[in-house]
Order: sequence, then structure tokens, then C-alpha cells
Amino acid sequence: MLLDMTRTHVPVLAGELIDLVSPAPGETAVDCTFGAGGHARLVAGRIGPTGTLVCIDRDPAAEEHFEDLAREVACDTRFLRMDYSEGLALLGEEGLDADLVYMDLGISSMQVDAMERGFSYSYDAPLDMRMDPDQDLDAREVVNTWEERRLSQLFHRYGEDPSARRIAREIVRRRERARIETTGELVAIVEAAVPAAVRRSFGGGHPAKRVFQAIRIAVNDELDSLDRALPLAWDLLPDGGRLAAISFHSLEDRRVKRFLAERARGCVCPPDFPVCVCGREPEAELLTRRAVAPTPGEVADNPRSKSGRLRAARRLGRKDVS
Ligand SMILES: C[S@@+](CC[C@H](N)C(=O)[O-])C[C@H]1O[C@@H](n2cnc3c(N)ncnc32)[C@H](O)[C@@H]1O
Repeated sequence: MLLDMTRTHVPVLAGELIDLVSPAPGETAVDCTFGAGGHARLVAGRIGPTGTLVCIDRDPAAEEHFEDLAREVACDTRFLRMDYSEGLALLGEEGLDADLVYMDLGISSMQVDAMERGFSYSYDAPLDMRMDPDQDLDAREVVNTWEERRLSQLFHRYGEDPSARRIAREIVRRRERARIETTGELVAIVEAAVPAAVRRSFGGGHPAKRVFQAIRIAVNDELDSLDRALPLAWDLLPDGGRLAAISFHSLEDRRVKRFLAERARGCVCPPDFPVCVCGREPEAELLTRRAVAPTPGEVADNPRSKSGRLRAARRLGRKDVS
């Protein structure tokens, strides 16, 4: 299969993100997941020459895209090549006030389409799936060393795969004969483990999709990283600061939704208390009551946008100054 090497990432829900968080001239923004900088370019255009844009990504390929952006835009720019939770912690230690922090979760089209990185079940490639190629854990290690029970839990929790146990059992059976080295071998194992009738009942989609998603989440520690990052991002916001996140599966979206809803909650006194004694005030105004999904037009133009869900909130009250 020929790859289109000119293909880059098309930013998802870009107009909706800008409308919701409305970056203004002179503001400071933090892009936690820079990728090819599609969202960052739009934000840079809005914050203008007096604004500041801090970009984070743990993939060295993103840093090359950042260098292009830094030459094109008028605002101050800075790049942090690290996990966004580490980047946000560092910015917090530096005392940065960010008017706007946003994250566009998951992987970029460049990562999926770079065959050799092993993110895709559509190409036969070494089992890798690391966003940061300098980290030790890769998909080969997960598939070849994790115990059957741990693999089964992984496919169940992070892939929500109804055939988790069967697939884990088949992986262990096969690797007793020889190490599993490629994405193609893994796809064949999943296909062998899951009968065709069960695969059809999944409601379409590639039979290995959920397993690949689960392994990718584990290799890149995606959910723990998001859990660490959300409060760190919130702590950077002064009164009126905005936080937005675009998720691509329910495990991420649930975390974002819960985090924002918790901050938007006021009094937590039991309902039978005649008056409020907790004195708790909401620290967030939700800018999205429901997650915003891409329009049918966006999905038609960019099918990879299909599962994107955007949520955003504005901070109320000043962050603690200590
Ligand atoms: C969906 S893409 C972002 C695309 C970008 N918004 C654009 O318009 O080009 C997600 C990017 O986030 C990065 N990423 C994902 N999780 C990360 C994390 N925990 N820390 C740092 N970067 C992360 C990936 O390497 C990838 O480049």
C-alpha cells in the first residue's frame, strides 16, 4: 500500500474550539497536544503579536512542525517536548498564568500513517505504538510479557472488547511458540481468537481496533496522564481562564466530563439540610452542557473526526495565590 507522505493532521472541531474558548489579543495559551499545530495556528492568529503560545508534545516529530509554526506566527512561542502532565507541572512551578489551556487527545494522523510506528492495524509493522520513541515500554513488551489476566483486563478496560479473555488467551498460546513481533501477527491472532459471528456483532469496525486502542493507551499511559494533567491545567487558570479538551473515546471523555462537572458544582450539603453549611461555590462555568460533536460535513470531509467530542469550561474566581 502506498502512503501519501504529504498528508498531515486535519484539526478536529477547530472552529467549535475557537468559538467556545475565544482566544483574544495578548492572551497566553497552552496547547498540550501540539501535533502538526492545526489548532495552535488558529489560536496564534487570535492572540496576535502580543500573545504567548506554549506548545507541548512528547513526539519529536511534533517539534519539527512546531519549528515551522514558530517561523510563521507573530506571537511568542515556546515548545516543551515532554508528557503534557510534566509540561503543565513545570509551567505551574514557573508561575505561569494561562488564559487558555486546551488538549486534543489521542494520536495524530502523522502517527497513524507512519507505518513503521506500529499504531495502525492496517499495515504490517513492528509492534511499537510509542508516542515518545525514547521511552522504554512499547507494544512488543506488553504483548509478549504481560500475564494473560493482565492482558485480558487491559482489553476489557481500555478496549471495552467483549472478547478480551479469548484474545488474551490466544496471545499467550501463540507467544509460547514464538515472540509476537508485528502488528500483522497481532491482527491475525485477534482474527483467529474472535469468531466471525462475534466480530460481526461488534457492529462493524476492524476486529483488532479495540485491542490496538487498549495497547496504545497502556503503552503511552494515556489515561493516567490525562488524570494528572486536568488539575494541573486548571491550576494555571486565573479568573475567566478557559480549559477545553477534545476526546476520541468514552474513557477520555468520561474523565473530562467528570472533572469539569465536579468544578461546576456548588453546594454539596445533604439535600435535607435546611441551609447550606458547606459554603462551596462553583469554580467553573460549563461552556458545553453536552459534549460538542463534529458536524456531518466535518465527518464527511475528515472521517477521523467522527468520534471527536469537545468539552470546555471557564474558571470562576481567582486561583489561589500562595
Ligand atoms: C490528536 S493529535 C493533536 C493534533 C493537533 N491538535 C493538530 O491540530 O495538529 C495528539 C498529539 O498529542 C500528543 N500527545 C498525546 N498524549 C500526550 C501526552 N500525554 N503528552 C504529550 N503529548 C501527547 C501526540 O503525540 C500527538 O502529537
